[in-house]
Amino acid sequence: MTLPRLIGHRGFSAHAPENTLSAIDAAARAGINWVELDVQCLGDGTPVIWHDAHVARCSDGGPTLLRDLTIDDARRLDVGSWFDERFTGERILTLDDALDALNARGMGLNLELKLSTGHDPVQLVETVLPRVTSALPPERLLVSSFDGDALDCARKLDNDVRLGILYDDKIPRDWPWDVERLRAFSVHPNWVHLNQERVIELKRAEISLVCYTVNEPDRFAPWWEQGVDAVISDDPTLFFTDSDRTR
Ligand code: G3P
Ligand code: MG
Repeated sequence: MTLPRLIGHRGFSAHAPENTLSAIDAAARAGINWVELDVQCLGDGTPVIWHDAHVARCSDGGPTLLRDLTIDDARRLDVGSWFDERFTGERILTLDDALDALNARGMGLNLELKLSTGHDPVQLVETVLPRVTSALPPERLLVSSFDGDALDCARKLDNDVRLGILYDDKIPRDWPWDVERLRAFSVHPNWVHLNQERVIELKRAEISLVCYTVNEPDRFAPWWEQGVDAVISDDPTLFFTDSDRTR
């Protein structure tokens, strides 16, 4: 699988409400072919594209927990106007609708299995993984998580799916142990904690390196030369070269 150089974070979160259909659509229109989206389950088990444990920040629903909502409750939320009144009436995006939207546009997906406190990794993986692997061809899918149990479960359930390991702090010295155990395709570090030694080791081992969340192209530039494969950015157009712009 060849990863694209640029992946839209939570869709295209600089330009549309994060993790929504509008964000996927805005990414596609800007020429961004891959998006990162977060997935979690509602209380009734419906997988939805959502980042937080609650709905306070990105909807008009107040501090309600996602796991206390059914899909009917969740569909009543306005998940667009918090971002800009142009998006008033935007509805929560189910995983199934996200997959349809990506397929309709020929886009790739880095799906982050998001484990909010109290959520069950096995339930999330067993619900989500069969849906995504049957909807998207392998070359347009990369599944990642901070949660080791979720990644272990994903690998047990599917021999072939490409897995990415998210690290929120420095890449640990024993990263090869994680990579071998999970047969991971990629490592996804927070770029502010990047360390040259680890980057060299990863490149030597031919592990793809996908950095998040990179919104400062000039400060980040030296890391491309070290062999970073892809960045996840709120606004990938910041990294566009002249050839990206004329495509
Ligand atoms: O997948 C990269 C990035 O999305 C991880 O952090 O909190 O934005 O989901 P977060
Ligand atoms: Mg994420």
